[in-house]
Amino acid sequence: MATQIGWYGLGSMGLAMATNLQRHLSSTQALSLLYSNRTLSRGDSLQQLGAVPQSNFKDLVSRSNIIFTMVSNDAVLESLINTAIESPGTSIASKIFIDCSTVHPQTITSISSRLSSKSASFLCAPVFGGNPVATAGKLVFALAGSTPEVRHNIIKPLIQDVMGRKVIDCGEDPAKSSLLKIAGNIVTVSLMETVGEAQVFAEKTGLGTEAMEELINEAFGPIAGGYSKRLTTGAYAPELNTRPGFGVSLAIKDANHALSIAQDKGVELPSVELARDNMASARDYAGECLDSSSMYGILRQKAGLAFWNEKSRQGGGK
Ligand SMILES: NC(=O)c1ccc[n+]([C@@H]2O[C@H](COP(=O)([O-])OP(=O)(O)OC[C@H]3O[C@@H](n4cnc5c(N)ncnc54)[C@H](OP(=O)(O)O)[C@@H]3O)[C@@H](O)[C@H]2O)c1
Repeated sequence: MATQIGWYGLGSMGLAMATNLQRHLSSTQALSLLYSNRTLSRGDSLQQLGAVPQSNFKDLVSRSNIIFTMVSNDAVLESLINTAIESPGTSIASKIFIDCSTVHPQTITSISSRLSSKSASFLCAPVFGGNPVATAGKLVFALAGSTPEVRHNIIKPLIQDVMGRKVIDCGEDPAKSSLLKIAGNIVTVSLMETVGEAQVFAEKTGLGTEAMEELINEAFGPIAGGYSKRLTTGAYAPELNTRPGFGVSLAIKDANHALSIAQDKGVELPSVELARDNMASARDYAGECLDSSSMYGILRQKAGLAFWNEKSRQGGGK
C-alpha cells in the first residue's frame, strides 16, 4: 500500500516546509500531501501545488500513515496528540508521528510514551534556520526517536535535500533532539541580543548601521548578518496583521525552556536571561506582532532612541 503523508501546521515555517515536501512528492509520483491547519486558508498555495486539504487533525491522522506536525508550542502539540489518541473509533497503531516544533524535552518524552502505548511511533525533528532557509529547503534538522531503520530509510529521505540540507542523527531517545534544539537556541537568542547591542552602539556613536551590518556579514557570517538585517529593514517590528518571521512569544518560550533546564542542572545562562527579559519588555511595549529580534527596540529605548526605527512600523500593537 502506498504511503500517505499528512502535514499539520502552516505557520511561518510549516507552510514553507510543507510546500517543499509536496513539490518532492509530486516530482517522485508519490501520493500528494494531505494537510490541515487551524486556519485552513493558509494552505491555498499548497492546494494549488496538488496537496489536499483536510478539515481537521483527526481526519488528517485517520487518512495518513506518516503525520508531520509544526506548531507553536507544547500546549498546541499536546492537544493535537490528545485528539489523535482519544478519537473514538480511530486506531493509530503503526502510524508514524514526527514533530518539527520546538518543545520541551519532557513534553516530547511524555508524548512519545503515550503514542507508543497505542503502538504508534514518534520522532522528534526540530529545525534550525528561519523562514527564508525553510523556503530554500536548507534547514538543519535534529532527528531522534524510533529505530535507525525508520529514521534512515523512511524519514530521512523525506527531509534530506527536500526540506533540509543536513540531518543530525540524535539516536533513539526523541528527547535528545529536542534538547539539542533548545541548546542551539541559547546561541540564537544571545546572538540576536548581541547584534542588537552592536547596532544601537553603531547608531549612537555615529558609526552608522550600514557599516556595522557590512562588518557583521563579512566578519561574523550570514546568520549574524541576517539578524542585523531584521533590524535595519525594520522586520523586528513588522506591520500589524502580518506574521513575524520568528514570533517574539515563540522565542520567549524557547528561552524559558533553556532557562528551566539550565536551572535544574545548576547552569547559569545570563545572556539568555537578558535576551528573554528584553523580548518580554518589547512584547509589553508593542504587543504580539514582533519578531524575536525585537529586543532591539528595548535596547534603543535604553539608549534614548525611539523603540521604532525608520523602517519598522511606527507604533501600535497593544
Ligand atoms: N520561525 C522561525 O524562525 C523558527 C525557526 C525554528 C523553529 N521554530 C519553531 O517552529 C515552530 C513553528 O514556528 P512558526 O514560526 O512557523 O510559528 P507560527 O508562524 O506562529 O505558526 C504556528 C502554527 O501553529 C498553529 N497554531 C497556533 N496556535 C494553535 C492552536 N491553539 N491550535 C491549533 N493550531 C495552532 C498556527 O495555526 P494558524 O495558522 O491558524 O495560526 C500555525 O500553523 C515553533 O515551535 C517555533 O518555536 C521557528
